[in-house]
Amino acid sequence: MIKLAPSILSADFSRLIDDVHKAEQAGAEYLHIDVMDGRFVPNITIGPLVVKALRPHCGMVFDCHLMIVEPEKYIEDFIQAGADLVTVHAEACTHLHRVVSQIKELGAKAGVALNPATPINAIEHVLPFVDLVLLMTVNPGYGGQKFIPQVIPKINSLHEIINNKGYNIELQVDGGINPATAKQVVDAGAEILVAGSAIFGTGNIETAVNDLRQSAK
Ligand code: DX5
Ligand code: ZN
Repeated sequence: MIKLAPSILSADFSRLIDDVHKAEQAGAEYLHIDVMDGRFVPNITIGPLVVKALRPHCGMVFDCHLMIVEPEKYIEDFIQAGADLVTVHAEACTHLHRVVSQIKELGAKAGVALNPATPINAIEHVLPFVDLVLLMTVNPGYGGQKFIPQVIPKINSLHEIINNKGYNIELQVDGGINPATAKQVVDAGAEILVAGSAIFGTGNIETAVNDLRQSAK
């Protein structure tokens, strides 16, 4: 069963809760919240305040993708604000195992993200401790970028490792996912599809969620 994670990065921030409700009503399972610090990535987006403001109004899984340096400083704030899942970048953590443990001890699910250029073996030794791996299919920082097809073999490899070892890990992909690319990543083993511009960037959020779900089959 494929899950969809609309990214609010492409939502209308002047009507954020309306857009979020539309995605929820359309049946999207996760709400993907892109947190950028202007250091790990060139862009700056939102912080725990927005997570806290949305939390009482939305029942979706809150999936916070931290594209920030020193994420350990802010993990507790995001979890207290209502994050169910906190994903940190392997490239941003000097002590990745410690950061993953911190997320779990604070009661949230722990995800680890990899940029397109980072090999899977960077996270091999923390796989037994994580709930989700996010493979970036664009370089993080902006919505609306072009899907990098060279990541597909990496999705295949990670899927195989997860199956062979029997890990209970969800495989998420993020960047350039739309009805044209969804099937390719699902065939390679992706289970949670993040999509910003292909959902919130369209004229009709509900139709876009349905189209993406259909094309992922
Ligand atoms: C990119 C973010 C993505 C972004 C995806 O750095 O992590 O979640 O919102 O946007 P699209 O789906 O438009 O590529
Ligand atoms: Zn993201």
